[in-house]
Amino acid sequence: MINCGIVGWGTAVPEARMTNADLAARVETTDAWIIERTGIRERRVAAPDETPATLGAIAAGRALERAGVAPADVDLLIVATVTPDQPIPHTGAYLGDLLGLRCGSFDLNAACAGFVYEMVVAASMVNAGYERILIVGAETLSRITDPDDRATCVLFGDGAGAALVARSADAPGLLGWDLGCDGSAASLLEVPAGGSRLPASFETVAGRGHYLKMAGPEVFRRAVRAVVESATVTLERSKVDATDVRWFVPHQANSRIIDAAGERLGFGADRTLVNIDRYGNTSSASIPLALFEAVDDGRVRDGDLVLCSGFGAGMTWASALIQWGIGS
Ligand code: ACO
Repeated sequence: MINCGIVGWGTAVPEARMTNADLAARVETTDAWIIERTGIRERRVAAPDETPATLGAIAAGRALERAGVAPADVDLLIVATVTPDQPIPHTGAYLGDLLGLRCGSFDLNAACAGFVYEMVVAASMVNAGYERILIVGAETLSRITDPDDRATCVLFGDGAGAALVARSADAPGLLGWDLGCDGSAASLLEVPAGGSRLPASFETVAGRGHYLKMAGPEVFRRAVRAVVESATVTLERSKVDATDVRWFVPHQANSRIIDAAGERLGFGADRTLVNIDRYGNTSSASIPLALFEAVDDGRVRDGDLVLCSGFGAGMTWASALIQWGIGS
């Protein structure tokens, strides 16, 4: 048991909205198809000068303000992203500098499971002696989405969420967690070019190799299975029954995945946080965007048990059970 809790939180999304009608004007799709097959109505798109570092810094600044903690008192910064500002340096360097931080920082790439991975790493670092750890999930997926691929361009959006995790004697910390990755399925969801395997070249650009490729239906099947298994293991490890969990916060990839996983786990719409209709899939930002929106509007209350569960490229998965607001 690690005594820590989320003592500050914040989110940030770009102003610009891309609606289903906007997409239908460009690729062969319809508003009805996108809503029925994904649950998405619109997503946010970063302006040219917005990046994971700038969006993440706004979200993180709000988290610090809410906690009443000065940047100088942050001991560690972790940034989860699959759309880093640059290959080198890590996005945490830019984000930390925007906040005036000089503490240690690193990026974490666990795709859509990134924020839950960060929760587990942050709790572990508190156990190792750190006091206050800033965790950020920040993405500009619009920069790696092929605008001509209707199977992916309708899904993704941009945004950021941040939390300040702090040591706190009364906070129960993580009640249970589960992390996993099945790399044998990595090719189901990838950006093939731009890394050491296939460095950028005229050919990779011409072949659209720098865009996200996804075997949608197979990822869908694995996503439901991974979320159900990971959430179940986490509840077992926590010795908590699903009926005692007030809120299920799944990664927002597709409303049909959320419904299918929720049904198998016993979470109906009244106990599941969903905002995919307004933001699409924002990868590592999706769980904090859904959770903190519900905290801010009063749905999530102090003492509520909250089960977060994400899955994504890798294929990674991660779940964590927390008790909101105790010791914060
Ligand atoms: N508009 C209209 N038709 C479309 C569209 C579209 N935007 N996209 C695909 N179609 C068509 C296909 O071409 C296909 O037509 P065909 O039958 O003539 O070949 C038909 O619709 C059905 O296609 P499927 O791919 O089988 O559709 P499905 O119902 O599976 O939905 C989707 C596709 C939305 C991509 C779904 O598979 C999905 O959500 N997969 C999982 C996504 C996900 O969870 N990603 C995970 C994390 S992302 C990360 O880690 C960064």
